Amino acid sequence: MRVLIVGGGGREHTLAWKLAQSPLLESLYCAPGNAGISAVAECVDIAADDIDSLKQWALEKKIDLTVVGPEVPLVLGIADLFRQSGLKVFGPDSKGAMLEGSKVWSKRKMKQWGIPTAGFTIFDDFDDARSHLARFYGGQVVIKADGLAAGKGVTVASGPEEAEQALYDIMIERAFGEAGERVVIENCLSGEEVSVLAVTDGKNLVVLPSSQDHKAIGEGDKGPNTGGMGAYSPAPIYTAELARKTETEVFRPLLNGFLEMGVDFRGVIYAGLMVSEDQFNVLEFNVRFGDPETQAIIPRMQSDLLPLLAAAAEGDLKDIEPRWKDDPAVCVVLASDGYPGKYEKGRLIEGIDALESSGDDKIAIFHAGTALKEGRLVTAGGRVLGVTAWDSDLQKAVERVYGAADQIKFEGCYFRRDIAHRAL
Ligand code: AMP
Ligand code: GLY
Repeated sequence: MRVLIVGGGGREHTLAWKLAQSPLLESLYCAPGNAGISAVAECVDIAADDIDSLKQWALEKKIDLTVVGPEVPLVLGIADLFRQSGLKVFGPDSKGAMLEGSKVWSKRKMKQWGIPTAGFTIFDDFDDARSHLARFYGGQVVIKADGLAAGKGVTVASGPEEAEQALYDIMIERAFGEAGERVVIENCLSGEEVSVLAVTDGKNLVVLPSSQDHKAIGEGDKGPNTGGMGAYSPAPIYTAELARKTETEVFRPLLNGFLEMGVDFRGVIYAGLMVSEDQFNVLEFNVRFGDPETQAIIPRMQSDLLPLLAAAAEGDLKDIEPRWKDDPAVCVVLASDGYPGKYEKGRLIEGIDALESSGDDKIAIFHAGTALKEGRLVTAGGRVLGVTAWDSDLQKAVERVYGAADQIKFEGCYFRRDIAHRAL
């Protein structure tokens, strides 16, 4: 099979790394890819959101399957466009992508379809929204910009003042552009978060092993949110009982609702859950693989990834049952200091070759923001690398992953030392 992956981060490197091991693969391409991906796939210089050029290229190259990594091309309608041209694609249509593309849409659908989620109110007027905050006097409240904001549109405010500032930034300053036309003001939930990803053909589901992301920049979950600073899989908090409830109370109603609406959802549904002793709720849905959750989940997959993605894209997942290793896996993200704010690029990265030739077959290094400059590997983003390790128990996997992370050097390299602390 001739496969194109759209995207160029750690998630896409992980998918490329796994797909490259498939005996069914004939050629693997990635647009735009990155320095690490170029070792396993041919990188194509087309941006992930240039969906017309991607379609043209895929037609010319007779691509059999396109796997879409990030949300932006999905919201722009890449799956609709490809399918209209007879190209097979793993990713929902643009209507289905609204689940991630609009918080307002997503919350309304959750309410309509009876999916457990935090109570909320929607506003398109700053003064009305501000007045509503008085109800949260003395307590926490969550403010969400309506559209895509690269993971930065949500503020968990400690009280009305901080919430008002968030409202002002979103609705008046337009910090996230058009995403500031509407906001969701939501009750704050407490508990532990877990990410549950399910591959679907629109009717059948293959739920992947659970994982837990670490969104905050600082240890102990302190400081501003990032795209994700590390993840581990499985998350022990996701019990068999919770898995059963998630399937019947979250995934099934969602798929039924989509079927009724005529949404063509062939791809992955990512449910971000908040779990406490007596309840569970959906915090958010994404319509793509999580990053860095994918870097912790996919290395645990024993069977071939390609038949799973291809069957979902074909619309027939019935006979697919992937096999998974019991070994837990941990991914630690190495970032440029300053991230998620301003950071430097172009810093020389050392230590990867030595790690990769060490013969340790329980680690993998996934590139996120890297580039080749005059043949040398340099930093090119906020999140630079994801180092994943797996082992017979979580403690061993944690020791292995930090042993490896400590051997990678670049100026201003920052990573959290407490990934997986909750499960340990
Ligand atoms: P979202 O993009 O909606 O997942 O929000 C990003 C992050 O904000 C989540 O992963 C949570 O850590 C936090 N968050 C979102 N909604 C809530 C809520 N209702 N209560 C508490 N934390 C929340
Ligand atoms: N790790 C969070 C996300 O992929 O949205």
